[in-house]
Amino acid sequence: MKKIAILTSGGDAPGMNACIRAVVRTARYKGIEVAGINRGYQGLIENDFVHLDSSSVSNIIQRGGTILKSSRSEEFRSKEGRVKAANNLIDNRIEGLIAIGGDGTFTGAKLLIEEHGIPILGIPGTIDNDLFGTDNTIGYDTALNTVVEAVDKIRDTADAHGRLFFVEVMGKDAGFIALRSGLASGAEAILVPETETYIDQLIAKLQKGWDRHKTSSIIIVAEGDDAGGAYEVARKVNEKFDYYESKVTILGHIQRGGSPSAYDRVLAGILGNASVEAILDGKSNAMVGLINKKVTLTSFEKAIKHHQKLDQGLLKLAEVLSY
Ligand code: F6P
Repeated sequence: MKKIAILTSGGDAPGMNACIRAVVRTARYKGIEVAGINRGYQGLIENDFVHLDSSSVSNIIQRGGTILKSSRSEEFRSKEGRVKAANNLIDNRIEGLIAIGGDGTFTGAKLLIEEHGIPILGIPGTIDNDLFGTDNTIGYDTALNTVVEAVDKIRDTADAHGRLFFVEVMGKDAGFIALRSGLASGAEAILVPETETYIDQLIAKLQKGWDRHKTSSIIIVAEGDDAGGAYEVARKVNEKFDYYESKVTILGHIQRGGSPSAYDRVLAGILGNASVEAILDGKSNAMVGLINKKVTLTSFEKAIKHHQKLDQGLLKLAEVLSY
């Protein structure tokens, strides 16, 4: 292999730049040429390639977002779009592709491999941590820290006014961000899509807190929770329990931005390096991940389909610690 390409796709995640850097530097170390593809699969379809060298990735390890930009390409979902993408890879003499992203990115990569035989390896880059085959995805740790910092601030004002706050966090249909940020910020309750939410139980808990003179409370609501988003949960609670004045905060896209944590930078370095080693070793159709500190390859099929399980022990711990 003489030349590989790299792209970032789907929701950006802090640490993507550190990962691009690791891929480019590893490839250059091994004498391999690297092309960057701007705007993910959309840029691939539009032949938006840039030459990347070691110096192109200087001073980006600490930056959030992605210097290659990202997109959620509708056109790439069609066969015709993927034909254009494959032709551009061939025209640019690309022999292997590294795609940083989440399940949508890997679903697209899998189709490109099946239809056009191009070797592709994936690197898990998403704040959601919802991929099977790695303990942590790149960006998850930073997003957790961002949420915890925000909730700490909300707690100050909740306490000052004696209010009940419903804080909605991201995670698509998974509760990883909600669970760990809720634990780390000492939330009174954590609502996740993986377990059914019973509003009456939540109210009973709030009532108990009220009875023992608790003046404020924080409820973390995962955006994909079955009871609805934070506004809906607040509405349902307020119908029957209105002792506190309640407020809703949707943290939204601030969770995706910011400088990556040290953990995410190191993870990005390990996985970026491993992806180049693996693709040069003839591996394809798989995601590199870190499980129990060991680099592991998991087929795209498995990484997408089998969600990592939410830690039930941590959910129980949150229950006990918020008693
Ligand atoms: O997958 C990352 C993520 O931030 C999810 O947590 C969220 O549901 C989604 O992307 C939001 O996507 P968009 O930025 O396209 O609205």
